[in-house]
Amino acid sequence: MIVILISGRGSNMQALLDAGLPVSAVISSRADAQGLQAAAARGIPTGVVEHRAFGSREAFDAALAAEIDRFEPRLVALAGFMRVLTPGFVARFRERLLNIHPSLLPAFPGLNTHERALAAGVKLHGCTVHFVTAELDHGPIVIQAAVRVRPDDSAAALAARVLRQEHVIYPKAAGWFIDNRLVISSGVVSVKGNDAQLVLAAD
Ligand code: GRF
Repeated sequence: MIVILISGRGSNMQALLDAGLPVSAVISSRADAQGLQAAAARGIPTGVVEHRAFGSREAFDAALAAEIDRFEPRLVALAGFMRVLTPGFVARFRERLLNIHPSLLPAFPGLNTHERALAAGVKLHGCTVHFVTAELDHGPIVIQAAVRVRPDDSAAALAARVLRQEHVIYPKAAGWFIDNRLVISSGVVSVKGNDAQLVLAAD
């Protein structure tokens, strides 16, 4: 079973649900996250652990971990979860914590990835699903989707094309995990049965 952590819109959460993956709960770091209503409307149990209510990152992460553990998930999927997690939290969910990031990592970790990709003049951009390690937006790469950058692209247009691919690769990655097909060896992920870990977007 999967617990999904969100902070906002929740479109990746929806993609995981649409794929029919076994999601036992959705937990948000913000009570006003749009994705919470969408999850509840689909009959998925929801929870809120507001980071503002805690004095330290450690206290927040401990409360979050306790809430997650209530559902005993095999996989914890970060889907637009906007909090940096402590090393202790990451260690507790080691090799069962996935994140989706809107760039071709290791390029452009952090925020505003589409603006930064345009400013750097890269010709190829995209998104990455990776296992979470203590270093922000790093960790073994499960799958990437590559999107061509157009000469006249705006950050919003590029973000929309990347987001479409996020919705393709995250359910694939989570499905592989649930089916026990992911193998991590020396920091490199392979998929049993050799499924393609690269998607090249047509648009
Ligand atoms: C996505 O672009 C995801 O890659 C990033 O935050 C955004 C969340 O969007 N981590 P949504 O909440 O899944 O719609």
